[in-house]
Amino acid sequence: MKALILSGGTGTRLRPFTYSIPKQLVPVANKPVLLHCLENVRAMGVTEVGLIVGGQEEQIRAVVGDGSPLGLEITYIPQHLPLGLAHCVQIARDFLGDDDFVMYLGDNMLIGGTTEAAKAFQEQRPDAALLVTEVPDPRQFGVAEVDAEGRVLALAEKPPHPRSNLALIGVYFFTPAIHEAVAGLRPSARGELEITDAIQRLVEDGRAVSAERFTGYWKDTGNVEDMLDCNRVLLDALRAQGPYAGVDPDSVLTGEVVLGPGAEIIASRVEGPVVVGAGTVIRNSHIGPHTAVGRDCELTGTGISDSIVLEGASIRDVQGIHGSLIGRWADVQAGTSLPRRRLLVGDHSQISLSA
Ligand code: TTP
Repeated sequence: MKALILSGGTGTRLRPFTYSIPKQLVPVANKPVLLHCLENVRAMGVTEVGLIVGGQEEQIRAVVGDGSPLGLEITYIPQHLPLGLAHCVQIARDFLGDDDFVMYLGDNMLIGGTTEAAKAFQEQRPDAALLVTEVPDPRQFGVAEVDAEGRVLALAEKPPHPRSNLALIGVYFFTPAIHEAVAGLRPSARGELEITDAIQRLVEDGRAVSAERFTGYWKDTGNVEDMLDCNRVLLDALRAQGPYAGVDPDSVLTGEVVLGPGAEIIASRVEGPVVVGAGTVIRNSHIGPHTAVGRDCELTGTGISDSIVLEGASIRDVQGIHGSLIGRWADVQAGTSLPRRRLLVGDHSQISLSA
């Protein structure tokens, strides 16, 4: 079995970050979402991966490379425009050949359950096997109507009146039968070639399409709230590896705290679960639970919890930061010596200041 991982797209819901970083590279618990996906695929026993990339290909290449440290062999497949999930299958035709494959959305976080699903597909080998889960509001998802035996009867993409509460989650297993189904598809009302339309074709052609309920943890990390939720779940599984050389005697660490090489904690309180990246310096600060601070950051006189801080950011004298995502090399500061509030805020940013 091969894998096709989708790491293009526009990422409008994660602006402004996605102007400068592909959303699949935003880290949760200090590891890019895409690397979590690649590790899951490797755990399924897959080594040959086709990676769909869009305009931010260079950054993805810089992080993933040829995949060899992960035990993978990566083939990059450029997509000139994000024309839909079924378009990704079309342009990967040469790479996929006549092999079965798992298609995995590179911004989806799944914890547990994917290797079992891969095994079940390989044993039963329906033409398509979909992972589904119950959601409160299926209108924002691909929705499957499924019979008591788990056979898919019909599919709809973001239907206004869903006929079930089973949403498709970002992992699909296919035999080569899907290639015929994606050929000649027409763009949907939103202008994309929909994978749900292709699978619907398989159903109408009498092919075996099964749905398996996914019982592990799943989030589409397309927006900030979901990103923070994933961060909390991954940090909850963190195990401290101390004692650490970089912690001075005036600092107190409680709970699970993981520090990268060269990180320093000076006169600060760190309440785990917290992960701090290599080379980061935390001084006179309070880092609360569920915070992931990337590498080479500088936090001084700061109070922060339940947040993700990306590499190289610096925060000075700001208290009460909560539920925040701070971008790479961002500079956030407060202080009584500053004459006024000065904001340099990029397009689509969100700033919430207390009075
Ligand atoms: P989506 O989250 O559906 O699309 P998007 O990236 O355009 O995001 P937004 O809705 O915020 O604008 O995409 C799911 C995954 O598939 C994601 O990793 C991006 C990837 N993708 C492609 O690689 N090519 C495509 O043509 C599309 C639509 C998505």
